[in-house]
This record gives sequence, C-alpha cells and structure tokens, in this order.
Amino acid sequence: MKQEHPQPPYAQIVAAVEEIPGLEPLSEWLVKALDPLTRRRTLMDLLQGRWLGHALHPVLSDVPLGLWTSVPVLDLIGDDTGATMLVAVGCVAAGATAATGAADWSVTYGRDRRLALAHGLVNTAALALQVGSLAARLRGRRGRGRLLSVAGLATGAAAAYLGGDLVFDRALAVNHTAWLSGPAEWTDVADDTDVTEGVLSVVDVDDRKVLLTRVDGIVCALENTCSHAGGPLNEGSVEDGHVVCPWHGSRFRLRDGAVLGGPATFPQPHFEARKLDGRVQIRGRED
Ligand code: FES
Repeated sequence: MKQEHPQPPYAQIVAAVEEIPGLEPLSEWLVKALDPLTRRRTLMDLLQGRWLGHALHPVLSDVPLGLWTSVPVLDLIGDDTGATMLVAVGCVAAGATAATGAADWSVTYGRDRRLALAHGLVNTAALALQVGSLAARLRGRRGRGRLLSVAGLATGAAAAYLGGDLVFDRALAVNHTAWLSGPAEWTDVADDTDVTEGVLSVVDVDDRKVLLTRVDGIVCALENTCSHAGGPLNEGSVEDGHVVCPWHGSRFRLRDGAVLGGPATFPQPHFEARKLDGRVQIRGRED
C-alpha cells in the first residue's frame, strides 16, 4: 500500500502563502511600477550588493530586527527614551532594508516572486506596527506603544521566516556555482579550431557544462551555469571581452569571470586553458 507523506505544517503554510490570490497580479503591477528604477544599473548594483561580493539585503535585515528585539528589554527595565530611540532607528533601517529587498525581488519569477512579495508585505506590516508604536510612544501612550512593538516584532519574525525559506529552500541570492570545482587535472575538451573569437560554445566536462570562447586570440573557459540563478551563459551574448547572461543580464569578464554588472554578485568560476597538439585543455579550481 502506498504510504502518504504529508508535508510538515511549516511547509504547508509556506505553500499556502505563495498561492494567495492577488500576489501574482500585484507582482506584475509592481514590476511595471518599479521599471524606471530597476533599469538603473548603477542603483541596482548598489542595492543588490555587487560592490560587497554578495547580497546586501540579508546584511541589512539584521539591523531593524536586532534593534526592535532590544526594545522589549528596554521596556522591561523602564528605559522609555532608549526604547523609543531604538524603535525609531529600526524604522529608518527597515526602509533601507526594504529598498535592497525590492532590488533582489525585481529579478525573481513565479512562485519565488510571489513568496518574496509576501515576505515584503509582511515586513511592511511589521514596519507599520513599529511606526504606530513610535507614534504612540511620542504621544506618551506607553502601554499602547509597547503592545505595538511586540506585535511588530512578532510580525517581523514571521516575515524573516519566509525570507529564510527563500534563501535556504529556494536558493535565492546564493552562489549557484559554489559547489562546483575541478577538473583537477588538465582535461582535453575541444579542438583548438572549434574555439572561435566572439562565439560562445559549450562542452561537457565531468557532468557539467563549460563555456568556451576566444578573446584577443586567447582561449577563455568559464563555468556555463550563471552564478546568479543558474542561467545558461552560452545562450547569452559576447560584448567587448565579457559575456552577458541571457536571464537577467549579468556581465562576466571572460578572461577571469569577474562580475562587471549585476544582479550577480559572485564571480563566475573560470578555468585555466592551454593548447596542446592542436587541442584545448582546461583545468579548474581545486576543492
Ligand atoms: S541567471 Fe540571473 S543574471 Fe544569470
């Protein structure tokens, strides 16, 4: 008899959240509304964390949550001024965190995009509760302010859970080439005449795909799976010594895999390449 394996409750909740009616049309509307901003590559590189070497959003998201977590402690010991200050600074930090989250969200699709939007909406509710708490505290309504702080913190924690699911379950904003290494030995991959300037070709090496091309006569070899979200680089284009990913337009220098333009924040693994007896051989990074 076939055994049923029901999903654990937390997985059922996440699955239900991403199917909430209205998330998809709201996503589409938001994509259009944000389009003038998401087209600004410099702004997106700043918000998505290319300068930092990985996503900026998870770094900033700890700040408001950390501040707001400290508020009930200060409330308990009766430090009203300190508590009000932390609520206020947390609200400012939440604004900056939301901007980085929106930038990351702008390059998501399907169920990931819906769940990420739900994560953002729950965080917005958390921020609204904290702003309400701040207003109540400034008017001297301490009991109400404390209550709203705790409610905002609980709501923020629920949003953080959804955010964690996006990263640890959906692998959003992680390096999609992190686990790839080798080949440790020089490996024959192609005839030298098959690697052409300005043309992207792909070869299979150890059950994975390697991108080959030639820049200024030199053979360049990169991991073909884009580090951002796994796009196939060989289906992209070559421009001025770099390859442009066909999925979200990240640009990697062919010579060494450096990220020249996001949303990717991790460099593309590159291989040493050499010519031997008319054949191209490559060798990858070690574990
Ligand atoms: S998969 Fe997103 S830029 Fe390549």
